[in-house]
Amino acid sequence: MSDDSSRPWYEALFERDWYDYFARGGPGSPDTDGSYARRTDAEVEFIERALGLTEPCDLLDLCCGPGRHSVRLAQRGHRVTGVDISAYNLQQAAEQAEEFAVEVAWREADMRETGLAALSQDAVINMFTAFGFFDDDGNQRVLDEVAHVLRPEGRFLIDLVNRDSLMRRHQPRMWSDRRNGAVLLQEHAFDSATGSQTTHWTVVKADGERIAQSFTVRMYTLQELELRMALAGLEVEEAWGGLDGKALTMDSHRLVVLARKA
Ligand SMILES: C[S@@+](CC[C@H](N)C(=O)[O-])C[C@H]1O[C@@H](n2cnc3c(N)ncnc32)[C@H](O)[C@@H]1O
Repeated sequence: MSDDSSRPWYEALFERDWYDYFARGGPGSPDTDGSYARRTDAEVEFIERALGLTEPCDLLDLCCGPGRHSVRLAQRGHRVTGVDISAYNLQQAAEQAEEFAVEVAWREADMRETGLAALSQDAVINMFTAFGFFDDDGNQRVLDEVAHVLRPEGRFLIDLVNRDSLMRRHQPRMWSDRRNGAVLLQEHAFDSATGSQTTHWTVVKADGERIAQSFTVRMYTLQELELRMALAGLEVEEAWGGLDGKALTMDSHRLVVLARKA
């Protein structure tokens, strides 16, 4: 984790400490039995099905992180561009691509302004809660950018926390064990006025060292997102309760939305 506190949280959060202590597949939660890799394989199958990708296409993985979807989609023959703001993540992603001998066009850029050409993509994906990091105007700019790079009839798939279910299962404090005797405390506060959740994470390592992280994410309902997407010229076609294609209910932890550029 960079100690440059002048960077906004979304630039600095998803780096080494995130993978060491919070995310699946990182050193603090290694994928020893391969279940995380298998889940990602299944997600990629769903992504292709949902987007209707029957032949190789130009696809943007917006906020690609360490490239787990990008690399697999490139293995399936798609011409993939992976955009992320974090050079750390793009480095991990490039190593993955090299390991699997696939070409992906990695690009360090902000999701609000990718610098990609208008009408250059057949499909855009945004996976694993990589939206809602700005105020409503900033989040709208992301949707506008998606519409800008998509060709007419191009599709956009986004995978978010389902706000309806979050409201039912909201827990102000949660403790969990991490590897090597570390403990993770997650504190959540939901602001009904802004529709945003602020999370404070504290990892207490066995030797007493503490690592703290805070971030605020705007949570959208499907109906709000539909209106926001419409403003960008994106029409919602379908929604699911997860990347396994199950029905969306108020208990679904995830909200997966497919939209088409009109
Ligand atoms: C929750 S991770 C999701 C990563 C990936 N999609 C996945 O499924 O593993 C969010 C990603 O968004 C990236 N990110 C955060 N703010 C960004 C921004 N303003 N523009 C582009 N990428 C951003 C982070 O660096 C991180 O890789």
